[in-house]
Amino acid sequence: MRLRHKPWALPEMNQSQRFFADPFDKKGHWREEFGNDHPIDLEVGCGRGEFTLKLARAYPERNFIAMDLKNEVLVYGLRKVEEEALPNVRMISMKAEDLDRVFAPGEIQRLFINFANPWPKAGHNKRRLTHPRFLALYRLITIDAASVEFKTDDEGLYTDSLTYFPEAGFEVTFRTQELAADHPGNIQTEYEEKFRRFGMPIYRIDAKKVPLSQERMDDLLAYRTTALREMARKEQKKHREQRDEESSVVAAP
Ligand SMILES: C[S@@+](CC[C@H](N)C(=O)[O-])C[C@H]1O[C@@H](n2cnc3c(N)ncnc32)[C@H](O)[C@@H]1O
Repeated sequence: MRLRHKPWALPEMNQSQRFFADPFDKKGHWREEFGNDHPIDLEVGCGRGEFTLKLARAYPERNFIAMDLKNEVLVYGLRKVEEEALPNVRMISMKAEDLDRVFAPGEIQRLFINFANPWPKAGHNKRRLTHPRFLALYRLITIDAASVEFKTDDEGLYTDSLTYFPEAGFEVTFRTQELAADHPGNIQTEYEEKFRRFGMPIYRIDAKKVPLSQERMDDLLAYRTTALREMARKEQKKHREQRDEESSVVAAP
């Protein structure tokens, strides 16, 4: 979905004590931020955050962080968090690719991914929020035996995710291709309500983190080293070209 840019969103959000546009300095300090040691759950790609808000109202003894890369949608959730003065919710603006720069190992207990973009083209699969690359990041920030709950309207994403989870050391504990709206404990998200109105089936996978070898983790995260090397190589090339240009100017008669 293409969203209209809302230049007022960030300034409005920055007024809130419950929002962080630059959450990197919170890494390892989220308990202090909430002022208690209740477990912390994270929703990745929360949109307007309605799911997190419902959870936060239902479970005041837990803390919730809702994150999304689009301030244009987050802003509406944050308004409700402020109106209701929900003490156990924080919202952050960031991309999932940076999660381990914002959370220390073991800071998160449960993680939710709801109606993420299916990225159906093979070349784009790596962008899926359940791709093993992302699952490896979720491993880095969660407790042992953490749980991940995933819902989607997309059959292809559901089917592929059934292989992604075990590939990244998550055991599938529950799966269904027809999640009932009133499934025990089910909390409907904004997109889920829309899809149900169209009579579309809702798919769900619950998974539990199990041990995974360091070698496999290194494999899953190797792309980051390659990407960093590539960035460093481009930077070096740019400097070399700049230097050559400067020295040719000096050398000119
Ligand atoms: C289809 S919406 C679903 C919103 C909400 N979870 C729901 O179920 O109602 C998907 C959301 O994921 C966010 N998103 C996609 N890729 C992301 C990424 N790499 N990091 C953070 N958020 C992302 C999008 O900005 C969008 O708001």
